[in-house]
Amino acid sequence: MNTFSLGRSRLVVGFSALLGFANTALADDAPIVIKFSHVVAENTPKGEGALLFKKFAEERLPGKVKVEIYPNSSLYGDADELQALRDNKLQILAPSLAKFGEYNKQLQIFDLPFLFDDLEAVNRFQQRAKGRQLLSGMQKSNITGLAYWHNGMKQLSAIKPLNNPADAEGLAFRIQPSPIIESQFTALGATPVKLPFAATLQALKDGQVQGTENTWSNIYSQQYAQVQPYIMETNHGVLDYMLVTNTQFWYAIPHATRTELEDIIEKVTFLVNNAAEAQNVLARQQLTQGKTHVITLTDQERSSWRAAMQPVWKEYEAVIGADLIKAAQQVNRKNAAK
Ligand code: LMR
Repeated sequence: MNTFSLGRSRLVVGFSALLGFANTALADDAPIVIKFSHVVAENTPKGEGALLFKKFAEERLPGKVKVEIYPNSSLYGDADELQALRDNKLQILAPSLAKFGEYNKQLQIFDLPFLFDDLEAVNRFQQRAKGRQLLSGMQKSNITGLAYWHNGMKQLSAIKPLNNPADAEGLAFRIQPSPIIESQFTALGATPVKLPFAATLQALKDGQVQGTENTWSNIYSQQYAQVQPYIMETNHGVLDYMLVTNTQFWYAIPHATRTELEDIIEKVTFLVNNAAEAQNVLARQQLTQGKTHVITLTDQERSSWRAAMQPVWKEYEAVIGADLIKAAQQVNRKNAAK
């Protein structure tokens, strides 16, 4: 008997089992409600992906599925959204990969600075067996990974130009809740400050932090440019997402509906991942047309950032697994043939 609530009548399902009725014989017209919560703006890769999911799900499963989208941390935020998912208070989330450390330490691989050369390399790793296995690494916590969604490569923003790692010394940077990102900024002699995404702009305005790292689309849509006149195009790491659901909820959805939803997710994932890079290019353009100074690095400057940040790998090798790190390194184009 399916006693897990899908927003349908539990009583009716239980009653049917009692009387020996097939579930299909019951008129149960209430749609399955899927609450999809996220912390970003709607004009971002994730924001648009969520809207597409709603559009396709409601078009292809009329009356069967209703999707409610809650953007900009309007329902839950960084601090409580994963617990809310586990408690089935919402059904779909797409937190950045830096936010799953509590549930699967191996996912921290995506936070290692200068591991992936570009988003294509990230994509290759996510599609290969080792990357795909990570999608099912949180089953014990009632979390199922459905797909990887791209945002893009991270840049540094600050109140002053940072050409070299030494320029970051003494500044406080807002970070996502990831021990690796924390070590990365500590290695620079900077102060990492873990803050929810929704609190970042205010913390920048108040001077609590003087810098951040994020993608072009997040920097642009959160309007950090108001208080961050410099963006360093470091591409030093990746900010991607895992689309996740509550395992019990998902597998209680009738098979035909779930299969359709999985098909829709595949389609939306394809669209999101193809558009993410262009969305970041556009956000970069919009920032350069404004007041932002974009600082591109010389090869030598980039090497000095790499040299300053990469030593943190050693600290996390045992937690993540040397073999996984090696597999990830092999996706970079220069290593792809090895
Ligand atoms: C951040 O906290 O900076 C990002 O994870 C926000 C997001 O979801 O892109």
